[in-house]
Amino acid sequence: MTEQFKMDAPATERRLDDMAQGLVGAPLDRPEGPLKVTGTATYANEWQVDGMAHGVMVRAPGNSGRVVLSNRDAVVKMPGVLSVIQDDRLLRNPAQGTANEAPIQGPQHVAYLGQLIAVVVAESFEQARHAAQALDVTLENGEPVPVDPETAAVEPQEGQALDQGDLEAAMSAAENSVDVVYTTPSHSSSPMEPHASIATWEGDDLILRGSYQMLKYNRNELADSLGIHPDRVRVISPYVGGGFGSKLGLAPEAVAAAIAAKEVGRPVSVALLRPQVYEATMRRSETRQRLRLAADADGRLSGFGHDARVSNLPGETFAEPVLQASHFLYASANRKMSLDLARLHRLCAGSVRAPGEAVGVTIVENAMDELAHAAGIDPVELRLRNIPEKDPESGKEYSSRRFRKALQGGAEAFGWNDRPGVKERRDGDWMIGYGMASAARVNILKESQARVTLRPDGTARVETDMTDIGTGTYAILGQIAGEMLGLPRDKVDVVLGDTDLPPASGSGGSWGASSSGTSVYLACEAIRRQLADRLEVDERDLLLKDAQATYANKTTALTDVLRGDEIAKVGHVLPGDTSDAVRQATFGAYFAEVGVHAATGETRVRRMHGSFAAGRILNAKTARSQCLGGMTFGIGMALTEELAFDPRDGHVANHNLAEYHIPVNADVPQLTVELLEERDDWASPLQAKGIGELGICGAAAAITNAIFNATGVRVRDYPATLDKVI
Ligand code: MOS
Repeated sequence: MTEQFKMDAPATERRLDDMAQGLVGAPLDRPEGPLKVTGTATYANEWQVDGMAHGVMVRAPGNSGRVVLSNRDAVVKMPGVLSVIQDDRLLRNPAQGTANEAPIQGPQHVAYLGQLIAVVVAESFEQARHAAQALDVTLENGEPVPVDPETAAVEPQEGQALDQGDLEAAMSAAENSVDVVYTTPSHSSSPMEPHASIATWEGDDLILRGSYQMLKYNRNELADSLGIHPDRVRVISPYVGGGFGSKLGLAPEAVAAAIAAKEVGRPVSVALLRPQVYEATMRRSETRQRLRLAADADGRLSGFGHDARVSNLPGETFAEPVLQASHFLYASANRKMSLDLARLHRLCAGSVRAPGEAVGVTIVENAMDELAHAAGIDPVELRLRNIPEKDPESGKEYSSRRFRKALQGGAEAFGWNDRPGVKERRDGDWMIGYGMASAARVNILKESQARVTLRPDGTARVETDMTDIGTGTYAILGQIAGEMLGLPRDKVDVVLGDTDLPPASGSGGSWGASSSGTSVYLACEAIRRQLADRLEVDERDLLLKDAQATYANKTTALTDVLRGDEIAKVGHVLPGDTSDAVRQATFGAYFAEVGVHAATGETRVRRMHGSFAAGRILNAKTARSQCLGGMTFGIGMALTEELAFDPRDGHVANHNLAEYHIPVNADVPQLTVELLEERDDWASPLQAKGIGELGICGAAAAITNAIFNATGVRVRDYPATLDKVI
């Protein structure tokens, strides 16, 4: 029944290339797209559950102390109010966390301002919101707590540190060097769909309709926080209106909905208000990064130093992995790296849009640009000269790496040769500059399962608790099944987002398509073998195309082979030795042209190009869209995005989409994307790597490097708002 496979050896056979249906790689539309744009897809907060009540969460007004609800009795008597709940399970210290580094936020002793500490339940949403606003929350016995990373105590992350050779000596001996400090602010995932859950109890069994990325973990987290067995919990999440990391782990509204539904004996819906999404889900840590690069006269690196400081709440284990790609991107014999974690009382820091590389590669690429300028070497040429033969720390081979091609091809596609000198080109009032940066991101394969059923009528169904967070899962899993079983895309339906289905990798860390796709591939292989057995041929000699089976010079309809039977198989992939045997990563390059207004300092990105290599591309359209999204977020990181904290109490000053500036259409010029053909035998039987996050891993540096080229100004404090450019 179950086809289990551990990725212990390279997949050298080009199996998908040998299939005949022509679906994998094709730029197919997302089948759920029309549902989403016509309002037909049901998002978490849109389910209509009989007898449903509404909960609105309440925030802590300070960053320390014990919660007191002084007018609770009066609020309970307000019109429509069913309950005011301040439960210990809501109020647990985030440091106690859960098994999956996704803390349930809401401690008895408040840890940060804006933390969600209670839920008010009423007949209608309006009544609940009114009562929540009327609830008087005070904090008792609070103490001053650090909220500023500059003054907070730090804990060195020893496991991340590296000291190889002698960086200081390399710096002193270098003919060219840079020693620079950059800072990046906190970022918010800012999904369009706020976090929302509807909880329904059927006896001791809980059904949660939510908006989450990693359902099997979310189910365990919810069970853990409620103190019940995971078998009692079902999470349903067929459509997710963006997550960007903030829905990897359970957010406060899910626990609140579950507790409230039990308490009032009815289904309860809790949706976070937009400010609560900014104040109480997850943030990307702000970073302070010092880069030291030592090079000879030709720009060849002899020393590479990267020291970073990030932050999180006391007790939290997550530390933004800023150094992740610094370990393998460039050569140099003398290397030194360190990561410090400052302990402070801002909302919990977690994974947001390519944790680590999004900000880490960006600053490496700024420093490389500074080195190129200091050494008088073309920035593309400087990168090309420093691509290491093998992993510079472990000596391992790279599994696949079309980095050189991305740099050279990208430069060509963009017209890099036409690059102006610093402060050399004008277009009326606009100062024009070009900039470039490399892209890099680790590649990860995760355990994943899926069931594929080939039905007697010659259609197939794919079922898994995998999610589609807007990335293309519905399309891609259908393409893989259709390819392997020789069925047109419309003969395959894909059912996702329900923990009653086989547990998948979930959507995160760019591993979703390759991991869940591999489980579908394995299930289909098993089905193919069973079909071949029936036909008494070798599976390798069985050609499946357009719902027909061709073998031994005969062609038969697939339905005739099935003879009324249905074949169901489960594919189960596990990461194995290949994840350690070689260095697995994805690579690329960005090129940007900006205009900086000579009077106002306003920067407009005029055009931008990205070339990316990530193994086999499973769907050229969704892969490209992911890259466009990443580059768009790169524009945000470079120019506008900043979660601003009040230095006095650590509260989020800009907790809405009007003041937390995500790029909008007017900020985004025509972006072009080139996807390089590649097969990675070490990554998975699909020979595909993750591409979801690659588009943001360095993108902002292409823009800030272009600002330098236009103006001669190095903005080392992100974002490059106009006050810093002029
Ligand atoms: Mo991603 S930040 O792993 O959803």
